[in-house]
Amino acid sequence: MPTVVLGSSEEFPEGEGVPVSVDGTEIAVFNLGGTFRAILNNCPHKNLPLDPAGSHQLGAVLGAVDEERCTIQCPWHNLEFDLESGHNPVLDRALPTFDVTTNDADEVVLEY
Ligand code: FES
Repeated sequence: MPTVVLGSSEEFPEGEGVPVSVDGTEIAVFNLGGTFRAILNNCPHKNLPLDPAGSHQLGAVLGAVDEERCTIQCPWHNLEFDLESGHNPVLDRALPTFDVTTNDADEVVLEY
């Protein structure tokens, strides 16, 4: 499985979503207390970005990461996605998720 170094872990603030582009795929990476999760950065409701940071730049005002439940609320209309499975119970479908780890250099590494 290919891997790509996304950057230093310091570039992924806790509780925030950071949008990255990997081979043309838009992905949102979340730092949940030092554990990293990644999900396709495209809410299937209206095809809008899920990451709070990027979405706020576009004018969305909602959205929140719940570290305890490992979920993200879409910043646009609040549908909630599990960051491990990608599942949303309202739509009854799951977005692709990606494995993310850190390496010995404290860099965030994505498998895809
Ligand atoms: S675009 Fe995500 S809930 Fe509407």
